[in-house]
Amino acid sequence: MKWLNYVFIYLMCFAFIARTEAAAVKKILGSSDSTIVQGLNIIPRPFKAETNGEFFHFNKTTVLLLPPGTPLSSGHIYGQYVNLIAGQPLLVKKHAGSNYIKLSIDPLLVPSNEGYVLEVRNNFIAVTGHDDAGLFYGLQSLTQLADFGEKPGIMGCKIDDHPRFAHRGALLDVSRHLFPVAAIEKWINILALYKINTFQWHLTDDQGWRIEIKKYPKLQTISAYRDETLIGHKKELPHVFDGKRYGGYYTQDEVKQIVQYAADRHITVIPEIEMPGHALAALAAYPELGCTGGPYKTATFWGIFNDVYCPGNEQTFTFLQNVLDEVLTLFPSKYIHIGGDECPKVRWHECPKCQKLMLDNHLKNENELQTYFVTRIEKYLNSKGRQIIGWDEILEGGLSPGATVMSWTGESGGIAAASQHHDVIMTPEKYVYMDYYQSLYAGEQTAAGGYLPLSKIYNYEPIPPVLNTDEEKYIKGVQANVWSEYLDSEQKAEYMMFPRIFALSEIAWSDKTQRNYNDFLARLRKQMPALKKMGLKPANVFDEITYTVNKNPDGKTVIDLASTSPGAIIHYTTDGSGPGINSAVCNNGVVVDTDEIIKAVVFSNGQPIGRTFQKRVMFHKGVGKKVTMVSQPVANFNPGDPSALVNGIEGSNLYNDGQWFGFGGADLEAVVDLGTLQPIKTIGTDILKYHWQKMWEPTNLTFLVSTDGISYTPVYSQQDFPVNGINTIKAELKDIKARFVKIIAINKGTIPEGEYGAGGKAMLMVDELFIY
Ligand code: ACM
Ligand code: ZN
Repeated sequence: MKWLNYVFIYLMCFAFIARTEAAAVKKILGSSDSTIVQGLNIIPRPFKAETNGEFFHFNKTTVLLLPPGTPLSSGHIYGQYVNLIAGQPLLVKKHAGSNYIKLSIDPLLVPSNEGYVLEVRNNFIAVTGHDDAGLFYGLQSLTQLADFGEKPGIMGCKIDDHPRFAHRGALLDVSRHLFPVAAIEKWINILALYKINTFQWHLTDDQGWRIEIKKYPKLQTISAYRDETLIGHKKELPHVFDGKRYGGYYTQDEVKQIVQYAADRHITVIPEIEMPGHALAALAAYPELGCTGGPYKTATFWGIFNDVYCPGNEQTFTFLQNVLDEVLTLFPSKYIHIGGDECPKVRWHECPKCQKLMLDNHLKNENELQTYFVTRIEKYLNSKGRQIIGWDEILEGGLSPGATVMSWTGESGGIAAASQHHDVIMTPEKYVYMDYYQSLYAGEQTAAGGYLPLSKIYNYEPIPPVLNTDEEKYIKGVQANVWSEYLDSEQKAEYMMFPRIFALSEIAWSDKTQRNYNDFLARLRKQMPALKKMGLKPANVFDEITYTVNKNPDGKTVIDLASTSPGAIIHYTTDGSGPGINSAVCNNGVVVDTDEIIKAVVFSNGQPIGRTFQKRVMFHKGVGKKVTMVSQPVANFNPGDPSALVNGIEGSNLYNDGQWFGFGGADLEAVVDLGTLQPIKTIGTDILKYHWQKMWEPTNLTFLVSTDGISYTPVYSQQDFPVNGINTIKAELKDIKARFVKIIAINKGTIPEGEYGAGGKAMLMVDELFIY
């Protein structure tokens, strides 16, 4: 009964919090619509909530009231929650006049699915659910409100609440690294407390097969293991490995235990069995299922692998159907996720069996072969009464008839699917991928590469504005995913998931009009101590310093530093020393008038909190000058203003930090007008090369100068960019005077065969054109 301990500790921690709130409420009630001001410290923020100045105290005669006819199908767990909240086992009664906590279900009183009404008065508590789930969520809100002080009780309130979206999801990848059953249960327990209702369990991938399938024992002995694992980030070359066999799998009994544990908490577990790609671990055990026949090995590093299931071989479908037969006995979910992402087609293109299948079925290309694959599996699962979900690449050859699309590469897959009247779950990676970095500070644990702070996930709106009202109803929900390539411990996984999943919970549950980041942060800060006492190790970097680049009235660049920490005072230095209480205070930003490194620390009540922010700023001749660009960067990599090319701040390794300009398949041509003729000693720039993110160096880079902006003279060019990561180019020049500086970078164009994204557009990533 470990979950009881977690919840119990959680409740204890809310004691003090709720009491302090109660005092505050009486003073400021009604002065603001903020939930936190009202003292109702609940995440996700309820649809409607108000306090009434009353307070319910539990005592020895308090009873649990279950009115006759209350259909509590899993009543025992509700009772356990109630006993925990009350701090004692309560006597169950069918009738009581007062001093009770009543649980009931009334779809007329509470019209919305999963909705609840919670009323707390001096002499009773009533939780009414629309359904079982609604009642459960009422109890979760009550859990967050519970006061466990000397006189346990709940602040008087009336809450009328229901979710915005039916699918409120979290994905956990256990292929790259797996986690103990106890850890998964602990996380599920917390997800439930925050009203997440779907847990997608990513069970199979190239690096390991993690679910016991009795019919195929080699999945357990071969596919569940890899020989060794990459050390460090995959973009660091050459790759270094740890030489240690790694693996394991969840037995069917463990799977059943987790599915039941989740179901008790109104969380549906959706298994993900990847196909046709991400299949290397399975092929290692059953090489006859691949186009070449192998041999294959379970992958030891991260990426996309060309060897995938061969649809030209009937055995592939026999295997997958047999696997799914066992999966279906373990997972009662309506939906089965069949993957469908990142499937290279090179083997199919060369495989005689695949080509024959395409000919026989009049399939024009390998994308249509992928649709054939997915449609066959969909039909099979439909015949068993289930529906499929697939990643957005299943759109490539045309959607199979009833598929739900999970839009991860961006929002466009979701938009396309909704406009074809297919259900959609939004999980666009740049907004909700919890394997991205959440802090710009150095020293973060290694992560995939992008930047996704808590605020960005919170501000994500799952319904794309381009959808019309008919189409938008196909957006069934939103989900945040944690991929475990770099998460080789429970602690690292927790750091990535929490608290970002709470932001997801609020955007998935709360009404759009209820969302307010500062209010969310205030509630989150209050819950952090309780979460830590539950044994959770959440990240607490959300109040760290962030920067924006602005101009002051004199036209000088100003780096504004900010922290959401209440009462934060930011002290900074520019001389390399560590900031202390006597260092300058950043009130109006840091005016840049030389090359410098800004170091800054947040102080609260005279004490430093958190780590040291550090940013190098360049004060070069181009800073603040006018930039003209010939082609526009793509939406994903567009700082929004061409002048960011000369704002003094270079793009970082976190490639979506808002500094980089990205050009998909297109060249960069930009001109900086320095305003007057000037001597120029150095022209330079940074190029981000990261082929696994489709980011390619240019085939040629040229700097040119001009005195009149009409005729330009090339002064430097370069074709080799050897660094995997940021290539800094510096052209040292002699006797040059110019007013205009031009950069031309020629895009690689099409990504070559054998590379990730082959055949697609290469992304040219450039930032900061510096001129000294
Ligand atoms: C995915 O992130 N490849 C679905
Ligand atoms: Zn084949």
